[in-house]
Amino acid sequence: MYKSILKPLFFLKKPEDAHHFTFDLTKLTFNLPIAKSIVKASFQLDDPRLEREVFGLKFKNPVGLAAGFDKDAKLIDEMAMLGFGFIEIGTLTPKPQDGNPLPRLFRLPQDESLVNRMGFNNGGVLNAVERLKKRKSDVIVGGNIGKNKVTPNENAVDDYLICLDALHPYVDYFVVNVSSPNTPNLRDLQEKEPLKQLLQAVKTSNDQKEKPKPILLKIAPDLTDGQLDDIVEIVLETKIDGVIATNTTIDRSNLTTEASQVEAIGAGGVSGKVLAKRSTDVIRYLSTKSNKAFPIIGVGGIFSAEDAIEKLEAGASLVQVYSGMIYEGPGLIKKIKKGLLAYFSR
Ligand SMILES: Cc1cc2nc3c(=O)[nH]c(=O)nc-3n(C[C@H](O)[C@H](O)[C@H](O)COP(=O)(O)O)c2cc1C
Repeated sequence: MYKSILKPLFFLKKPEDAHHFTFDLTKLTFNLPIAKSIVKASFQLDDPRLEREVFGLKFKNPVGLAAGFDKDAKLIDEMAMLGFGFIEIGTLTPKPQDGNPLPRLFRLPQDESLVNRMGFNNGGVLNAVERLKKRKSDVIVGGNIGKNKVTPNENAVDDYLICLDALHPYVDYFVVNVSSPNTPNLRDLQEKEPLKQLLQAVKTSNDQKEKPKPILLKIAPDLTDGQLDDIVEIVLETKIDGVIATNTTIDRSNLTTEASQVEAIGAGGVSGKVLAKRSTDVIRYLSTKSNKAFPIIGVGGIFSAEDAIEKLEAGASLVQVYSGMIYEGPGLIKKIKKGLLAYFSR
């Protein structure tokens, strides 16, 4: 139904309008008691063979919602009902911010990809905390944290620590995001020394809490092998719990969409099918180089169970989806889980 009815309808709208429309429609649907049970019956698939224990957390299944879809924690209960094993909120910043001017989200249907330069539009970390307090589902929630655009990189650590403190009682794991291409100079924090300092500060603050939470680092797919070697070294040295690979790419070279159309869109990160191979290569590189010393969450271009299996075979312990859900619909989650069960029972 998604591909034949809803998707053509959504794709008539501007991408960001479609995103807001989806949120409204989802809220509306889940407010109808009958719809709730229909959704549950259609989308959920639980099986002990899908369960995973990773960085000390027990996941019902290894398929998560990637950061950026539900930045402000508005749809946690609804997304849990769609069958996700975990949901990552954010990227959240200390203060609310509007993000970049519209338009800032674009579809590339021929490449089954998206370009976005949202720029961490979010209602601020405290706003999300209020929503998290009210959530009903016990699904695992990750808090993806960043810095405000107006905060200079010299003070970035403070922003991450503010978010860590505010979210700490309400999320199950944290993601330090230094890999968005849409906040000026953010990715400079991926350089060896600033990154080490940032992770050490986050880790120290986390370790001082009554119940420390797993800390992960989310990286860009555009890092060189040398930079990936540094990432392995830093993860091991700072003793954080794992890596999310990858964020969107600034590389346009694999797109088949008309170059003039791509140029007209302008700056932003590319996600979706075109990212799949590079993110899998990054996962494989990190896993091999580190000798599987830390867990990796694989994300980038997962549109099917086969795509998810590729990420797991490359060394990921869990996977996340964003663009695949836009192109394939929410039924993708159950499809991936079914495919994984078939794969596990070969
Ligand atoms: C519109 C949009 C907004 C995103 N916002 C964030 C974000 O705020 N923080 C983040 O870490 N990743 C963000 N991402 C990146 C995704 O979490 C994911 O890493 C990337 O899209 C690759 O996965 P995909 O190919 O399944 O979409 C965003 C992606 C999209 C398409």
